[in-house]
Amino acid sequence: MNQRIRPAQPSDGPALFAAWSSLRSHNAAIDRRIVPAPVTEQEFLEAFSQILQRRAGATFVAQCEDRLAGFLTGSIEANQPDRLPERHATIGYLYVEPFCRRQGVGRELFTAFARWAGSFDGVDHFEMPVLALDQGAEAFWKALGFTPFIQRLWAPVSAGENPG
Ligand SMILES: CC(C)(COP(=O)(O)OP(=O)(O)OC[C@H]1O[C@@H](n2cnc3c(N)ncnc32)[C@H](O)[C@@H]1OP(=O)(O)O)[C@@H](O)C(=O)NCCC(=O)NCCS
Repeated sequence: MNQRIRPAQPSDGPALFAAWSSLRSHNAAIDRRIVPAPVTEQEFLEAFSQILQRRAGATFVAQCEDRLAGFLTGSIEANQPDRLPERHATIGYLYVEPFCRRQGVGRELFTAFARWAGSFDGVDHFEMPVLALDQGAEAFWKALGFTPFIQRLWAPVSAGENPG
């Protein structure tokens, strides 16, 4: 397959909005507790242009036969103030279109981002939330060497009212 990974550019905005919308639908279908907030394409494009200007953030796209095949967006973020090291890399969104999954695109997007993140002083690891019910994502991250770390728990405010 003729695919290549490159940093995103402003002209990718509309295709990225479509891919990001597909990712949000995917996540909502995996777990009904994920309720996507309404975001118009115009709002997305405005936020995207600001994201592209951030020095501590990066977005990579995978192109396959002139089509957007996937994207990854991530950043360098501060750790909890009482835990070292002070910063780590995090991945906000990763999505590969169904037509080109299991062909190494996700891994290549991650490798490009990891190379970018590794150029920041003092950044030597990743931390990020992943949907616990997404078995495909779990298998992907495991294949890349990720292991569970801090768990995010969820409960309605009425939790604990009905002793079971
Ligand atoms: C998860 C996702 C990004 C993987 O992208 P991809 O391009 O298909 O991944 P790769 O081809 O680079 O896979 C690398 C390895 O990960 C593992 N893997 C990837 N997807 C897998 C799946 N669905 N089931 C089991 N293992 C999987 C395999 O070990 C694979 O190597 P192999 O194909 O040689 O066996 C893609 O399936 C996707 O976009 N899913 C929907 C959104 C999502 O889950 N995003 C990540 C949330 S944080």
